[in-house]
Amino acid sequence: MKVICDGDPGHDDMLAFLLAAKHLELIGITTVMGNQSLEKVTKNALKIVEFAGLTSIPVAKGMPRPLVNEPLYAPEIHGETGLDGHALPEPTTPLADMHAVDFIISRVMENDDVTLVPTGPLTNIAAALIKEPRIAEKISCISLMGGSLTYGNSTPAAEFNIYVDPEAAAVVFRSGIPIKTFGLNVTRQAEATEAEVERIRRIGTPVATIVADLLDFYRTSLMRVFGLKGASLHDPCAVAVLIDPSIFVMQPMHVEIELKGEFTRGMTVCDYRHRRLTSDNLQGKDAVIRGKKPNAEVAVAIDKERFFDLLIDTLASYR
Ligand code: BDR
Ligand code: CA
Repeated sequence: MKVICDGDPGHDDMLAFLLAAKHLELIGITTVMGNQSLEKVTKNALKIVEFAGLTSIPVAKGMPRPLVNEPLYAPEIHGETGLDGHALPEPTTPLADMHAVDFIISRVMENDDVTLVPTGPLTNIAAALIKEPRIAEKISCISLMGGSLTYGNSTPAAEFNIYVDPEAAAVVFRSGIPIKTFGLNVTRQAEATEAEVERIRRIGTPVATIVADLLDFYRTSLMRVFGLKGASLHDPCAVAVLIDPSIFVMQPMHVEIELKGEFTRGMTVCDYRHRRLTSDNLQGKDAVIRGKKPNAEVAVAIDKERFFDLLIDTLASYR
């Protein structure tokens, strides 16, 4: 499976990239503003490919601001650099000589089986769909981290990636492309407490030590800001499902992005009403379908133990 990771690294974006590079054919990383400015997150993407020995994977720089909103960053979670916790050297690897939006369009048009894994605001993906609508037919799947079935984190109703650029999210969710979506209700359960971070540190390699230092920073932020017990590993969920779908329970739902609400702008409004209609019992003529046809597979549960086994085994395979 050919994959492009599109993110705003970002501690958990980093883990998404590291998982994808080992298990899937990662044909590129594209960056978008989000956790920090575009300049900072792009520098972080280059730092990550350098410390992990992945410099053959092209990194393309994308959109510096959302489609409509003003930019909004998350220094209280990811620090001033967007990847605080371990001082990494200034990167020397050059960027791809193409804008991320053109990179996505060209790779999708050249191949038949590209899956996109967005782990930041959906600005690059929406811009690519607007610039070259034919990509909608060609993309196999979009597996994304964003939204929530329950509570938000940026606001009571909205999750950060969607809240930063709700109009872009609306373009993506209305594109007709098969979508898998991982929201806070599940990704907060992929929680690295002190015990999981210690498991990573005990691997003892340079890469594992850097990752453990970074996760200690991220974990401390989430404990301070949200009172959580550990680091929510949101973004690698969107990759883990492509490696081992049985780690998650997914359910088809119709998802709309709230663009107007006074208190709910950026909320993912998930139609849960179909949850008992599976592909088996849908064949029954008696099924009464209310609302719109599902446009996404929404994660509702995670096997945390198997998720961490996959993640930690993968980290152990880096030197
Ligand atoms: C999302 O926001 C960012 O802080 C994380 O990297 C993740 O993609 C969680 O709301
Ligand atoms: Ca992210």
